[in-house]
Amino acid sequence: MNLNPAELIWAAMQARQHAYAPYSNYAVGAAVLTEDGEVFPGCNVENAAYPATICAERVALTAAVAHGKRRFVAIAVVTRNGGSPCGACRQVMIELGPDMVVYIADETGAYRTTTVRALLPDGFDNASLLA
Ligand code: THU
Repeated sequence: MNLNPAELIWAAMQARQHAYAPYSNYAVGAAVLTEDGEVFPGCNVENAAYPATICAERVALTAAVAHGKRRFVAIAVVTRNGGSPCGACRQVMIELGPDMVVYIADETGAYRTTTVRALLPDGFDNASLLA
């Protein structure tokens, strides 16, 4: 799939504008690229009951699944300072998109490139349950 990183990051930046983050004021945007070339956006959605907050990455991935997508090639995450995905999001990424490339960007668009497997080495996955 030949969508370039800047385009996926742009989609994540757009989604970030919809972040509902009145408690942390830390807006996060994400965009996941499916194998068939579709892009699904996500933003963080906070809650007064803090643990009910949903991260941008999981919003994007679960929305894509709800649209029937199961194969993902990349995800972009944008925050003001290039923050790295949280542990819960890494766990969901290893479940749904273990082979994804991950672009971690700040609000200027500067980014670094990593992978889900690099972010969560030796993770618990479906193979762990089947063994
Ligand atoms: N957040 C994300 O959306 N993704 C992450 O990977 C890290 C944290 C959100 C959750 C919360 O709304 C805010 O950032 C501060 O933790």
